[in-house]
Amino acid sequence: MELAEAVRSRRMVRSFSDEPVPGQVVDELLALSLRAPSAGNTRGTSWVVLEGADEVATYWAHTTTEDWRARSRRWPGMRRAPVIALSLASPAAYLARYAEVDKAGAGLGRDRSAWPVPYWFGDAAFSVMTLLLSAASAGLGACFLGNFRGEEALRTALGVPGEWRLFGAVLLGRPDGRDRRSPSLDRPSPGIAERVHRGRW
Ligand SMILES: Cc1cc2nc3c(=O)[nH]c(=O)nc-3n(C[C@H](O)[C@H](O)[C@H](O)COP(=O)(O)O)c2cc1C
Repeated sequence: MELAEAVRSRRMVRSFSDEPVPGQVVDELLALSLRAPSAGNTRGTSWVVLEGADEVATYWAHTTTEDWRARSRRWPGMRRAPVIALSLASPAAYLARYAEVDKAGAGLGRDRSAWPVPYWFGDAAFSVMTLLLSAASAGLGACFLGNFRGEEALRTALGVPGEWRLFGAVLLGRPDGRDRRSPSLDRPSPGIAERVHRGRW
């Protein structure tokens, strides 16, 4: 699939079949995602990949509540996703990189509050986007879910070292075509002219 077509056709998929995704396909998609740009070439982002019912259940157990699972119309479709890739970022890796001699002039190597923009989450987002587009190009469905609750418990359950932050999760699998349209898509969308400013705002 051409890049422009992947960009145009990509949509968050929230209803999956339970057909597994071959491990080799998952590996190829993740390898592509790791080619995303990285500030200072720090590459301080990682994935924890959960595959199969038992592993993905750990994600849902820690990040959702029983009440939400009982009420959510979308959860039955999302829980069938056979793969969940957790996007993690290490602020400490960026601080260390920007304390190195070629970056020290930026003055970012001391503490996180010095950073006007947290590059660790920027890098994680680039990597997530590369994964979403690679999945679309491979004919798979994917959905990014933000990190709202349970981060610490999930990291502990999965043995993630303390300095790593959870950016969010990418569900991966085969779309089953039963997606419920997201209400977010019905929000009025500002046009190109409102979002692209030429010469000045
Ligand atoms: C940072 C970020 C967080 C998001 N979090 C969620 C989420 O928690 N749950 C969800 O269903 N969709 C989530 N989305 C998906 C957006 O709702 C979706 O991208 C938007 O409605 C546009 O739809 P599309 O991606 O299908 O074009 C998130 C997207 C981004 C970029």
